[in-house]
Amino acid sequence: MGIILRSAGKALPEKILTNDELATIIDTSDEWIKSHTGISERRIAKDDERASDFAVKACEEALKNANNPEKDLGKSSPHKVVRPEDIDLIIVSTATPDFPCLPATACVLQRELGCTNAAAFDLNAACSGFLYAMDVACGLMERHNYKYALVCGAELLSKIVDWQDRGSCILFGDGSGAVLLENEQAVGEKITERGFTSFILGTDGTGVSALYGGEDGKIKMDGRAVYNFAVGIMAKTLMDLMEKENLSVDDVDYFLCHQANERILKAAGKRAKLPEEKIILNLANYGNTSSACIPMTLSSYIKDKRIKPGMTIVFAAFGAGLTWAGAILRT
Ligand code: COA
Repeated sequence: MGIILRSAGKALPEKILTNDELATIIDTSDEWIKSHTGISERRIAKDDERASDFAVKACEEALKNANNPEKDLGKSSPHKVVRPEDIDLIIVSTATPDFPCLPATACVLQRELGCTNAAAFDLNAACSGFLYAMDVACGLMERHNYKYALVCGAELLSKIVDWQDRGSCILFGDGSGAVLLENEQAVGEKITERGFTSFILGTDGTGVSALYGGEDGKIKMDGRAVYNFAVGIMAKTLMDLMEKENLSVDDVDYFLCHQANERILKAAGKRAKLPEEKIILNLANYGNTSSACIPMTLSSYIKDKRIKPGMTIVFAAFGAGLTWAGAILRT
């Protein structure tokens, strides 16, 4: 309680790769991809672009939005300006960091953003990574009494996709999303009912081989196995979270899940008996951007005011590992 969402931002590569273009490389069709996944197109980074190029832009937008009373969900009174040097913590969730081993991509962000007082590190829990990073950030903010944190998902999956494998390459895209968190207590605000409350984290390591980067560094996936796991675990995570806080479906404004595949989202929603109109679908133009898709979606929904102050959002994600995660946010 007391760690609130101030703002969000996103950044995407310019290049769009449509299903029709993909069908010129592999044996597939726009019709097959749309009907099996809900994806029409995805963004692809250039050869010389790195995860941090987009992560920096997403964080800059989050900072800018926090300082724009129109786009600041925090709505403190008087409005609190956040400067780069006020940021105490930067966490980047990524499976495709700038460098193969050292240093963390978050260190590049710290330099580029001028967040001279921030501790910075990366975290990899695959597509569940953003929610894992949110839980870690909330914990550290409470423990250290940090005022502000930037939590970012940044993924260039096009670099690790096997472009010959039609069963997986159609799914993924590149992008970055970021959020700015505020610790109400640390900034001297009255602690409200807003913010992140319950988190769920989980892993089933027996599923390592269902989705992994092979010896060649390219994604190998058992699509059916991942599909079945995803539907079950997302439905369970959403239901467990609602039970934990004694919420009914009517108490929730949106269910925001990892944007892997429209069919998975709809099937999980049906299994958990959730109304379709509350399940956010935001993958048609981006594909699966792994841990970037939840903050990217938050950014778009806050921008056009579909997410406003006073809402309750329940999150769930799953990914390689196999990992899963969930959270509840009151805006
Ligand atoms: N275009 C055309 N046909 C394709 C295809 C493509 N891109 N990919 C697979 N197919 C074919 C298969 O070869 C198979 O043909 P066959 O019956 O002649 O053997 C047929 O379509 C059905 O394949 P299947 O794998 O059973 O399809 P599916 O309905 O399970 O859909 C996925 C495949 C990948 C879309 C689906 O399994 C899925 O979404 N899984 C979860 C993946 C995921 O989300 N991963 C990321 C997790 S973070």
